[in-house]
Amino acid sequence: MRLKSLEYVEIGDILGKPVYDDKCQLLLAKEVKLTLNYIERLKKANIQCIYIEDELSEGLEPTNVVSDELKIRSVSAVKTVFKDISERKGNNYNVKDINSIKNVVDEMMRVIYDNPETLYHMTELMGTDMYTYNHSAEVAVLSMLVAKRMKLSENFIQKIGVGAILHDIGKMQIPGEVLNKVNPLEKEEVKLVKEHVQFGYDMLKDNDFISPISRQIVLLHHEKLNGEGYPYHLSGDQIPIHVRIVTMCDIFNAISSNRAYKDRLNADEALELIRTEAVYELDRDIYYHLLKVVNIYPVGTLVQLSTGDVAIVIKENVDAQTRPVVQIIREKKRAEQLDLMDYLTVFITKTIEM
Ligand SMILES: [Fe+2]
Repeated sequence: MRLKSLEYVEIGDILGKPVYDDKCQLLLAKEVKLTLNYIERLKKANIQCIYIEDELSEGLEPTNVVSDELKIRSVSAVKTVFKDISERKGNNYNVKDINSIKNVVDEMMRVIYDNPETLYHMTELMGTDMYTYNHSAEVAVLSMLVAKRMKLSENFIQKIGVGAILHDIGKMQIPGEVLNKVNPLEKEEVKLVKEHVQFGYDMLKDNDFISPISRQIVLLHHEKLNGEGYPYHLSGDQIPIHVRIVTMCDIFNAISSNRAYKDRLNADEALELIRTEAVYELDRDIYYHLLKVVNIYPVGTLVQLSTGDVAIVIKENVDAQTRPVVQIIREKKRAEQLDLMDYLTVFITKTIEM
């Protein structure tokens, strides 16, 4: 199984994983053979990538930290809570909904602790309409993985998870036309978008069920180490560690996922962009922890090697992620196997699509 952008999908491709719509309802089941009609349906639902089964990726299974089932449940819980809290304007919480977020975070915790070797990579199961909810769930898992690598306590990690899930809840008060606008935002619109941190904090500030650590993440996740963030232009040590973790994971996930207005960067490109462009804004130590938990080349990824050959990743290397085991592709078939740990002069130059 491998991930394929919708623009490369062909009639006859077999779906490797189910695809869901914006209500978390099944849109197309696993093993469905794609017809023109189905492809149109995927486009209409704003699906950007799907998993397909083909000869090239036969027998390859990308391993996800969080199962598809838990992912769908998380996204659905996030959506319910976001809607509920924004409709009630911060008062009279539905405690059951807040508990559902905590339950999801607890489940994520269990998965992360039970599978310490599993690396994170994006799983595309839903369309961009679900972006905010999907992004929230992804940032939570990623932040918790980073926090665990930093050896923070379980109790602290749980609060980081809740804060990370809720970090953009204030966006519920910003019109969708502004959030998803393709053209550059007007000055007033930029100002409004920036207010999502305060909106979010206000929604949660009287909520005793949410720890001050989680609330701080909501309010401060756009602060930057060099003082150029918002809302308070905090700098350096003024920004707490739990906030820094979520800020890093938020940026990484946002630039490596699909949005209506831009093409997605692959994990390797996203990490490189953060390394080169955000050196003064983000915490360097956290960046190195992020590097260790992100699966840069998941099983099934097509890559170009420095030799010019195209290959497919067949086994990840947890200790040296840029050097997985690959299989060269010749005439659309998998040929010789190459463990990049044994061939140190050969390296991956980029991920490709076909
Ligand atoms: Fe945000």
